[in-house]
Amino acid sequence: MAKLEVPNISFSYDTKILDRINFSAASGEFISILGPSGCGKSTLLNIIAGLLQCDKGEIYVEGERLMGISPLLAYMPQDDLLLPWRTIIDNVSLPLQLKKIGRAEAHERVKGHFGEFGIDGYEYKYPRQLSGGMRQRAAFLRTVMSTAKVLLLDEPFAALDAMTRSKMQDWLAELRLKLGHTIVLVTHDIDEAVYLSDRIYVLSDRPGHVIFDVKIDTPPDERNWEWLLGSTTIKESIHRALEH
Ligand SMILES: Nc1ncnc2c1ncn2[C@@H]1O[C@H](COP(=O)(O)OP(=O)(O)OP(=O)(O)O)[C@@H](O)[C@H]1O
Ligand SMILES: [Mg+2]
Repeated sequence: MAKLEVPNISFSYDTKILDRINFSAASGEFISILGPSGCGKSTLLNIIAGLLQCDKGEIYVEGERLMGISPLLAYMPQDDLLLPWRTIIDNVSLPLQLKKIGRAEAHERVKGHFGEFGIDGYEYKYPRQLSGGMRQRAAFLRTVMSTAKVLLLDEPFAALDAMTRSKMQDWLAELRLKLGHTIVLVTHDIDEAVYLSDRIYVLSDRPGHVIFDVKIDTPPDERNWEWLLGSTTIKESIHRALEH
């Protein structure tokens, strides 16, 4: 449970990528970021995670300014970044092992989840022995197994088939209600954003700038797939913002 504030972030490579991005997430709030390909969404998460330094602006968690990589945040980058030389269970339990929790205990803590994630039996395989979707689920599991209270997720379900995707979405929704994580999700999927988020931010084409934001008032535990089908006004307003 941590409040995240991102006031006025700007960033350039040769050209300007992000232009005064401004948003915040209250403790336990679920934020989604939508925007056209190349508008700087992954760049923004890299900056929040402390992997890139912004030209202008700061990041705050619970009022404290972040300088570089912080244990307060867990980040699942767009490329899964499992370590090829570690088995899946050693990858998944890495955040715990980095916290000085013994390897055997760290394995014990994550083991029970392999079934729900459909990677049961792959604990002692290496990433190259798994499909893209399985690697993505392993990377997702690793991120949520971290003890950090702010999760940064960059298209975590992009490589999954529709059934698995909806299972993982429900799993994330439940986890968040149970543990109260503050979540920033980057996605291209409007339905996913509406189903999961408390607030959605839409970015413009590069340089990315917040052009629209919308709050979803229905409490997370009252949402279901019928509700999502009926939420046409919200979805249309997001569509319209993305088309500009
Ligand atoms: N290392 C780099 N050097 C120069 N330009 C880069 C670098 N990395 C990314 N870019 C450029 O920055 C822009 C934003 O990239 P970014 O990956 O943040 O986009 P994105 O919104 O996440 O896109 P997608 O939805 O396709 O994942 C792109 O135009 C990209 O070409
Ligand atoms: Mg990206």
